[in-house]
Amino acid sequence: MNRVNFEDGMAFPPRPNVNPNKLSLAQRPRRNRKAEWARRLVREHELTASDLIWPIFLVEGEGLREPVASMPGVERLSVDEAVRAAGLAAELGIPALALFPNIDPALRDVEASEALNEANLVCRAIRAVKRAVPQVGIITDVALDPYTSHGHDGLMEGEEILNDATVAVLVAQALNQARAGADVIAPSDMMDGRVGAIRAGLDAEGFENVSIMSYAAKYASAFYGPFRDAIGTKATLVGDKRTYQMDPANSEEALREVAADIEEGADMVIVKPGLPYLDVIFRVKETFGVPTFAYQVSGEYAMLMGAVNNGWLDADRAIFESLIAFKRAGAAGVLTYFAPLVAKKLKEG
Ligand code: PBG
Repeated sequence: MNRVNFEDGMAFPPRPNVNPNKLSLAQRPRRNRKAEWARRLVREHELTASDLIWPIFLVEGEGLREPVASMPGVERLSVDEAVRAAGLAAELGIPALALFPNIDPALRDVEASEALNEANLVCRAIRAVKRAVPQVGIITDVALDPYTSHGHDGLMEGEEILNDATVAVLVAQALNQARAGADVIAPSDMMDGRVGAIRAGLDAEGFENVSIMSYAAKYASAFYGPFRDAIGTKATLVGDKRTYQMDPANSEEALREVAADIEEGADMVIVKPGLPYLDVIFRVKETFGVPTFAYQVSGEYAMLMGAVNNGWLDADRAIFESLIAFKRAGAAGVLTYFAPLVAKKLKEG
C-alpha cells in the first residue's frame, strides 16, 4: 500500500522493505531442487529394473566363466552358467536377456553353416534357459558374424557382402532360434529387407507371436571393439562393416531405416551405439513413437569401467547418469552390460 498518512507528519511514503542484496524473482528453479523430497517429487524420469536388457556372452563348456579382457567384470558363460544368470535376472526383475555366442573357431566357415545347426550354442542356451527360467524373455541376435570365418555379418563374394543371399540365411537362422524357443528375434546385421523377410518366414511357420526387435539404426562404430573381442571376431574380421552399417555422420538416414523396419514388421527398434547417438534415439522416438531401445555398447562399457577402475569416475553415479540419459532421450529401455549391477543397486534401494 502506498497510502501515506501526512497527519502523522510523514512527508514520504515508507520505503519498501527490500534487501538490496536480494532479488525478487518470480521464477526460482532452485526451489524445486532444495531437498531430496522435492527433487523426487518433480523428477521426470526414473530408471527401474524393467528398463534393462542384459546382453550375455556364451561359450562352450561347463561351469565356465571366462573373463573378457577389454570388458572388466564381464565374462563369457557356459550354458549352465547362463541359466544361473537367467535366474539372477529373474530375481532382480530384469525382463530379458540378449544372447551372443562365441563360436568355436573350428565351426566357423564362409557359409556360416553353424548358424543353422539346431543344436548350436545359442539354441542349446535358449532351450536350457527357457526350461529353467521361463519368465525371463530371451532375445537372440540374428547376424552371421559369430559364425563366419571372416567375421562379417553377411555372406561374401570377393570383397562384397551379398545382401539378398545373406537375407535368405538370416531367415533360416531366425527360424532356427524361434524353434528353439526364442521370444524375440533381433536382427543386427543391417542387410536391406531382412525384417520383412524374417517376419514372413516366422509367420509361415506359425511363429506369429515371436517378436522382432530390429537394430534399425546401427552405426559402423569403433565402440564395438571389445564386443568383437568377446565373441572372438576381432582377429578374424577382414576390413570393416561400412558397406552395411551406417555412417556416424547421418541421422536423416536413421529415420528412413527405422521407417522401413517398422513397415516391414519390427515391433521394437534399437539405436546403437548409445550415448554418442542420443539425438538419434530422441528423433526416432519423437517421429515414430515405437518402443525404442538404446544399446550401451561394449566400448561405452569399457570406457566407463576404465575410468572407474582408475579412480577417475565414481562408478555408481557415472553408470546411473549414463542410463537415465537414455530414458530422458525417450528410450523404452537399454541393452547394457551394467544390467545386473544396476538392478542389484535398485533393489537395495
Ligand atoms: C554384430 C554385433 C555387434 C554388436 C552386436 N551385434 C558388433 C558388430 O557389429 O561388429 C556390438 C555390441 C557391443 O559392442 O556391445 N552383429
